[in-house]
Amino acid sequence: MNRDPLPQQRYIWGRRQSRPLKESQRQVLADLWPKVSLELPEQSMINPLDLFTPPLTDLWVEIGFGGGEHLAAQATLHPQIGFVGCEPFVNGVASLMVQIQEQSLKNIRIVKDDARLLLARLPDQSVGRIFVLFPDPWPKKRHNKRRIIQDESVTVFARILKQEGLLQMATDDADYAEWMQSIMVQHDEFELVLEGRASIYDRPQDWPATRYEQKGIAQGRAPVYLVYKKVA
Ligand SMILES: C[S@@+](CC[C@H](N)C(=O)[O-])C[C@H]1O[C@@H](n2cnc3c(N)ncnc32)[C@H](O)[C@@H]1O
Repeated sequence: MNRDPLPQQRYIWGRRQSRPLKESQRQVLADLWPKVSLELPEQSMINPLDLFTPPLTDLWVEIGFGGGEHLAAQATLHPQIGFVGCEPFVNGVASLMVQIQEQSLKNIRIVKDDARLLLARLPDQSVGRIFVLFPDPWPKKRHNKRRIIQDESVTVFARILKQEGLLQMATDDADYAEWMQSIMVQHDEFELVLEGRASIYDRPQDWPATRYEQKGIAQGRAPVYLVYKKVA
């Protein structure tokens, strides 16, 4: 198949590192990084079958996993699924790697980069679920174009998701929730299957909480949970 050249340009607006890593985190990074990192090919697509040995039954992707609590919990709940997590924030990557080591998780690969570079390299209909949980809201109007959920990224989600695959999103920014829904409604490849509003705390049972989410709830913010199924 002829394709346009794969994008090389990264768009990462948030910080890449905050405090220095602890000695234990640096040690885990040095020991484990070669085993868990997924280096993106410059011009070819990723073959999901090459990611895990033996190959796992499905591939789920989390974009912007933060400290990795949700990803590690999902990987524990679903040992037969392969997970790729994408996060450019070094402290978050180190935190997930400590969980991978402590829990001996074998089914996670990490991309320390802009998720858009990963998504463009995933084959058509290769992914069973995509998680975008509490992405940076960029509330100022002039920054809205930095939001990860855009018409273009949803077009890519539709391309890489399998039939009946799920896109699970959450935000506690009311404007971003509306933004997500206004984009999704234009994509008839997707059907809304869940709209949860946490004033009655109705996050699905099989959806472990993220760190950002817990902090927000403690501060009185109300998350919105959205699940879309790929139907066309
Ligand atoms: C508000 S935090 C939420 C983290 C986590 N999902 C949680 O709920 O605790 C948003 C995360 O998205 C990451 N992020 C920002 N731009 C990204 C990009 N282009 N690709 C992947 N992750 C990105 C940030 O580094 C940050 O960790």
